[in-house]
Amino acid sequence: MTLLQEAVAFIQKKVKVEPKIGLILGSGLGMLADEIQNAVTIAYDQIPHFPVSTVEGHAGELVVGELEGQKVITMRGRFHLYEGHALESVTFPIRVMKALGVETILVTNAAGGVNTSYEPGNLMLIQDHINLMYRNPLIGPNDASLGERFPDMSTAYDVELRELAAKLAAAQGIKLQSGVYAAVLGPSYETPAEIRMIRAVGADAVGMSTVPEVIVARHAGIRVLGISCITNMAAGILPQPLSHAEVMETAERVKGDFVQLLHSILKELR
Ligand code: HPA
Repeated sequence: MTLLQEAVAFIQKKVKVEPKIGLILGSGLGMLADEIQNAVTIAYDQIPHFPVSTVEGHAGELVVGELEGQKVITMRGRFHLYEGHALESVTFPIRVMKALGVETILVTNAAGGVNTSYEPGNLMLIQDHINLMYRNPLIGPNDASLGERFPDMSTAYDVELRELAAKLAAAQGIKLQSGVYAAVLGPSYETPAEIRMIRAVGADAVGMSTVPEVIVARHAGIRVLGISCITNMAAGILPQPLSHAEVMETAERVKGDFVQLLHSILKELR
């Protein structure tokens, strides 16, 4: 058995439902996992070959069950390259989800606003991304049973799912921007000069996650919907320095709208 098959076999022994939708929840949204019904929770450190968070006290867990009538699998706690994880580790959970039956993932994150018309607290539908991590999780021998060697990325973020999210946000009076997400390695925030560069190359928001997971998901033929919470304006736009505290505060402030939007998307998703 491959490492992937061992991890999947372990989870399948504990979980009877076949999840169709994967949720990867960014900063402050982990509580959505608490609302899952008939939940089976599995700590990452129990699952063979699963990465374990380097952040103390945040071992992380998978929660499988039902939400808005959908069979879901949620990652409570995700992995970042800046923690020192290898790309294979960061994206292993996506491969596991695929093998369990997941067809669609909803991925959320916190991001800095690069587009100066954005405001902290806005939500942004990810239209497309720019990989400024300069690393690709598909480097290495390609396992053709998982996906093709040169996967297409021209519509990495599913057009129909984006339309659905925009429609539902409008119906609920939730402001939803639409823009390009640039992924950087972090963990230091960008300099003002880097933000000018990132704006010049065509990005509207910047963050330290998501792109590796999306590349692996598209390789596996999983549909992707991505939404960022603009938690702060990126470096150099406002006079004050950036802080993790501001990121967490804004994420907390917007949580209500964000969770409501995710619920409505889950309810309508086919
Ligand atoms: N830069 C990078 N990552 C982020 C930011 C930012 O300004 N805000 C939240 N995540």
